[in-house]
Amino acid sequence: MLNIIICGAPGCGKGTQSDLIVEKYTLEHLSTGELLRREIAERTELGLIAESYIVNGNLVPDKMIIDILSKSIEEQAEEINGVILDGFPRTVAQAEALEILMNGVNKEIAVLIDLKVDDKELICRLLKRGETSGRCDDNLETIKKRLEVYEMKTAPVSEFYKKLNRYAAIDGMGTIDEIFARICTVMDSKVQ
Ligand code: AP5
Ligand code: MG
Repeated sequence: MLNIIICGAPGCGKGTQSDLIVEKYTLEHLSTGELLRREIAERTELGLIAESYIVNGNLVPDKMIIDILSKSIEEQAEEINGVILDGFPRTVAQAEALEILMNGVNKEIAVLIDLKVDDKELICRLLKRGETSGRCDDNLETIKKRLEVYEMKTAPVSEFYKKLNRYAAIDGMGTIDEIFARICTVMDSKVQ
């Protein structure tokens, strides 16, 4: 049983690397961004509220996202072998809520993997993806805002896990396979 967080700025490769990690370590992939995009695609009430934040590059309110995630974790707690959280927690308030939630189901986060990629590369990856993704936030103006919000609100989450001694920074530059190999080194040290 291994529960991990994959974290880092927009476009750092959280989704790409999660797919590889899930396959190798048989974990459940929980992406709050994907959950929200599903709600948007289905035009649910929650989706419409979320869209008004996402389209501007802002985070959706903590309470909304914590409610969604709690439901998911509590429902799956019995069956899952472990989970990879992608894009959550994104604020210190979310990290605190997650600690309480995990304690409640007798589980813990083994490590936060922080993918480090420079801004120029992030913008380049996201603009390229924007040519085909159809994501309302993959345009230059919104990307810049997402990067600002990341620095202000999400970067402090790393400090939270550093203090708990459950933090690993990974160089997120290079090929997808090179980065995955770096992540596997950290994962394997936690599995044993
Ligand atoms: P979310 O969906 O989490 O988006 P994000 O953090 O902005 O990250 P992305 O999904 O854009 O990038 P990624 O790191 O997954 O990179 P990827 O692998 O796709 O969140 C979206 C929005 O939802 C937020 O802005 C917020 O509004 C809301 N939200 C979500 N969670 C929330 C929360 N907890 N609280 C509040 N609000 C929340 O890669 C990017 C591209 O690069 C791809 O095209 C990929 O093919 C390519 N690529 C990947 N790796 C490489 C490589 N090594 N070399 C070259 N290209 C690469
Ligand atoms: Mg993603």
